Amino acid sequence: MCTACEDLVDPKEIKLDEIIAKYQNEKGPLIPILQEAQEVYGYLPAHVLKHISKATRIPLSRIYGVVTFYAQFRLTPVGRNLINVCMGTACHVRGGAKVLETLEKELKIKDGATTEDGRFTLEIVACIGACGLAPVISINNEVHGRLLPEKIAGILAKYE
Ligand code: FES
Repeated sequence: MCTACEDLVDPKEIKLDEIIAKYQNEKGPLIPILQEAQEVYGYLPAHVLKHISKATRIPLSRIYGVVTFYAQFRLTPVGRNLINVCMGTACHVRGGAKVLETLEKELKIKDGATTEDGRFTLEIVACIGACGLAPVISINNEVHGRLLPEKIAGILAKYE
């Protein structure tokens, strides 16, 4: 554990140190460390990135460079329900843009954001493998297909 983080006793912090120790002597440890840290925290909080930087001696600026380059990494927490809006070709052709626009209006957020109450996070994704049901969204991995914009409010109401 780094000297600046001696007061950390949170089980997540202990797990983080285990992850860092596991990869530290490997080549290119940063991405697997970040991936596993994100699994532990659900996203990559600033204090976690600082801790990784100190423990691995990788400059914080480089870590932020990697985190912001790859779409898989998140710097903000995910809402209780994660909505993936498919913008693959089939969904796009069959009205995916209208579905997205309706979700954005309904939730008052854009792609990548979380509602103020933490209830929903909205994310655009590529094909989720249910093209026959296009246009498609998934909420917490539950697929909703052949979506019509007017059905969206009713679907959202089922998620607390
Ligand atoms: S393009 Fe949307 S599920 Fe394949």
